[in-house]
Amino acid sequence: MQFTSMILSNAEVSPGYWRMRMTAPQQFASATPGQFVMVRVSGAIDPLLRRPFGIFDVGVHAPVQSGAVPQPYFEMLYRVVGKGTAMLSALHETDVLDILGPLGTGFNLGSPDEEKLIVGGGVGLAPLYLLARELVKRSPVRLFAGGRTRDDILCITEFERLGVECYTATEDGSLGECGLVTEALLRRLDVLKGRATIYACGPHGMLNAVAATAEARKIPCQVSLEGYMACGVGACLGCVAPGRGHSAETPDFRCVCTEGPVFESNELKWRD
Ligand SMILES: Cc1cc2nc3c(=O)[nH]c(=O)nc-3n(C[C@H](O)[C@H](O)[C@H](O)COP(=O)(O)OP(=O)(O)OC[C@H]3O[C@@H](n4cnc5c(N)ncnc54)[C@H](O)[C@@H]3O)c2cc1C
Ligand code: FES
Repeated sequence: MQFTSMILSNAEVSPGYWRMRMTAPQQFASATPGQFVMVRVSGAIDPLLRRPFGIFDVGVHAPVQSGAVPQPYFEMLYRVVGKGTAMLSALHETDVLDILGPLGTGFNLGSPDEEKLIVGGGVGLAPLYLLARELVKRSPVRLFAGGRTRDDILCITEFERLGVECYTATEDGSLGECGLVTEALLRRLDVLKGRATIYACGPHGMLNAVAATAEARKIPCQVSLEGYMACGVGACLGCVAPGRGHSAETPDFRCVCTEGPVFESNELKWRD
């Protein structure tokens, strides 16, 4: 669905990271965790292409005036990395944006009897909050949030408010454990003896390590990929990722914007 959305708020939540709340049509409430939107960041020709962002949260904005209709909204959590995201960060309340979404295939919530381990690196936490909100209704949920410094650890209080147990790790030791968050994940997996499902989003190196752990321990694992996208609707094939059977002789690709962005980790080809 394509719609015009009005910005309700746009605030820097940590240096370089912004959280934007926008109006949404009623039908947007059916967005599932892991789906994304394609945002036209400006009405001008440059940048021409829409930018993809995960859906951080959906909800209903309480009306200020009595008798006014409650306004559905959605939120994005984004990092300023280039022109498009810099333009987004300069927008204010009541500015409007052209949105396409919700798009793609999101997370499978899995069976309720296993602990759910959510692993997020930096802004990779963005599509994991809505997921956590759904998972806590059915299962115990733990979050493993990692980043280079404390600035990369985002919105942990929101996860804690859901009842999620949160672990943090930073490479410089400025928040939580010093090191990689995958080390804390391994310790929890040892305790659980394989009875868990992993959900991950973040830098490719982190996803690679999580996928390798899941494979070695035969644990179901879903990953959300955040590569480059041009159209977001399956038309350009600019987003494809190599599937498990891919080789020079046998091309095997997955279309990230329609078949994903969430995949079972064993569907994809990872570095050895
Ligand atoms: C399905 C999906 C969901 C996403 N969700 C989020 C989200 O919730 N929050 C968020 O902050 N970002 C998210 N991203 C990444 C986001 O789309 C890019 O950061 C954004 O398009 C950059 O736009 P820009 O114009 O600011 O940067 P550009 O000017 O286009 O690029 C600036 C720099 O960033 C690099 N870059 C651009 N896009 C990516 C990318 N996808 N991966 C790695 N490097 C990139 C470029 O190579 C360049 O060096 C998502 C991407 C996908 C595919
Ligand atoms: S972005 Fe065009 S096909 Fe996926």
